Formats: sequence, structure tokens, C-alpha cells
Amino acid sequence: MGIISAERVFEVLDTTEHVQPTGTKSLDRLKGDIELKQVRFSYVHGEEVLKGIDLKVKAGETIAIVGTTGAGKSTIINLLNRFYDIDSGEILLDGHDLYDFKVEDLRKNIAVVLQDVFLFADSIYNNIALYNPNITKQDVIEAAKKIGAHEFIMQLPGGYDFNVKERGGMLSSGQRQLIAFIRAYVAKPNILILDEATSSIDSYTEELIQTAIERLTKNSTSIVIAHRLATIQHADRIIVMDKGKIIEEGNHYDLITIPNGYYKKLYESQFKNNL
Ligand SMILES: Nc1ncnc2c1ncn2[C@@H]1O[C@H](COP(=O)(O)OP(=O)(O)OP(=O)(O)O)[C@@H](O)[C@H]1O
Ligand SMILES: [Mg+2]
Repeated sequence: MGIISAERVFEVLDTTEHVQPTGTKSLDRLKGDIELKQVRFSYVHGEEVLKGIDLKVKAGETIAIVGTTGAGKSTIINLLNRFYDIDSGEILLDGHDLYDFKVEDLRKNIAVVLQDVFLFADSIYNNIALYNPNITKQDVIEAAKKIGAHEFIMQLPGGYDFNVKERGGMLSSGQRQLIAFIRAYVAKPNILILDEATSSIDSYTEELIQTAIERLTKNSTSIVIAHRLATIQHADRIIVMDKGKIIEEGNHYDLITIPNGYYKKLYESQFKNNL
């Protein structure tokens, strides 16, 4: 058993990085135009997860992506961040091929809040500032106030000094997302990508998250992957995905008028108690 374990460890060690960091173009400040052209991608050879995605986001716009689990929503984030490379098609940032840019420059310009936020065993403050000496405690508090999370933090023992423990275990998944939102806010990115937590959260935290998303998306080109439709009714455009394809696109009012539409059904099921 020991030998087999060792073999597995070596397998991991031998794995090459998923991406070839070939880009050389430096990137100072992005405007924030994003375009995907016929993007196809598979994690496992022969099992296509994105089947020809065409998507255009203009600088400053907020678009939302909704869809069934496994549709490929988070995968789009993985590609924009270059955690994986596409099989075919094109991704353009400000009109330039994504693959021309240096990976580290790219990641500096794009703030991502993942579905499962990783926090480390340290204070709230350090989890937000990430030891960046240019971010002061005052910046963190102001950011938290701006996105509406200051009160919740102040209710924790020690406030910003509260230690969230291993993997942020002392906080709920919704609260961990709020911390990650502040982290994204202080980074002042031109492109912001939010992947809403799937696990259930209490209605108070849900309201905080909704406010936070509204405020966060104001200053950047934003892509919000949402599981709760209340989060995204104000988005400029909503993209509906199913099995690796875009099946509907429009604003909230366009989409609720599609007879038998996916979004319309989703909307009715989430709000049936309030209709
Ligand atoms: N690292 C990976 N390796 C192999 N397959 C993966 C990997 N990540 C995701 N997949 C598969 O790719 C497909 C799309 O996954 P993705 O995470 O993009 O879905 P999603 O739309 O974000 O779903 P959810 O709403 O549950 O978050 C799924 O079939 C999933 O099982
Ligand atoms: Mg996902």
C-alpha cells in the first residue's frame, strides 16, 4: 500500500502544468473588453465541456451566467484565468489574444472570487490584505463598509483581528465569500469574476452578498455566475448555459417572456412563494 501511495505522489509530482505560459506581452492596465469566439474545451480528451461558446462583454458591463450544474460556467473562469488552455477558438482581452499576455500580468488584472473561497488560519484583516504592504487596515475597513460587510465583521469576537482558523472553518460559506469580496474590492481590478457559493446560506448573509455584488460590480467589467436569481436581476445581460452551450441570452425581462424558457422556469421555481 505504501508503494502504491508513493506511486500516486510521484504521478502528481510528474504532472506538467496545464498551461504553457508562453505569453510575453506585458499588461499594465486593462480596459476590460472580453470576447470568446467559438471556444471549445475539454478537461478529459473526448469529453467536451464547452461546445463553441460565443460571448462578448464590453468594458464596464456586468453580465451574469446562470445554468444547470455542470453546464460549464466555472470552466469559463478557469479559462479566462488560464488555469487551463482552450482546445480551439479564441479568447480576446481588449482585442488581444489572451495567450499573448504574461500569465502573471493577466492574473493581476483579473480578480476572481471562486465558488469555494479559500481562507487561511489568520485574521480577517490578513485574509483580505494578503500581506500586501500597500493595503492598510484603514483601506480594508473602508472597503468592507463600501460593500456592506463591516457590521458583520464587527460582530465577530475581535472584529478584523478574528482568526478564521484552518480553511476559514469559523465562518459560514457565505461569510467566507463576503471576505473574498472585500479582498477583490481592495485589489481594484478592471475585470471581476464572481462565482456565487452553491451551498445554502441564511437569508441575512444572502442579502449582504446581494448588496456586495451590486457594489462590487459597479467599477469593473464583471462576470457574475449566479445560483440565486435575486443576485443578478440588475445585470446588463444574462447568459443561460446548458451542457456546454449558451441556450438563452438577454436581460431579465427578455428572458422571462420566452415561452417555456429555461430562465423563466428557473425564475418561477425560485420565486413561486412570492408570486
Ligand atoms: N478539473 C476538472 N477535471 C475534469 N472535469 C471537470 C473538472 N472541473 C469540472 N469538470 C467537469 O466539467 C463540467 C463543467 O463543470 P463546471 O464546474 O464548469 O460546471 P458549473 O456550470 O460551474 O456547475 P455548478 O453550477 O455546479 O458550479 C462538469 O461535467 C464537470 O464534472
Ligand atoms: Mg461552478
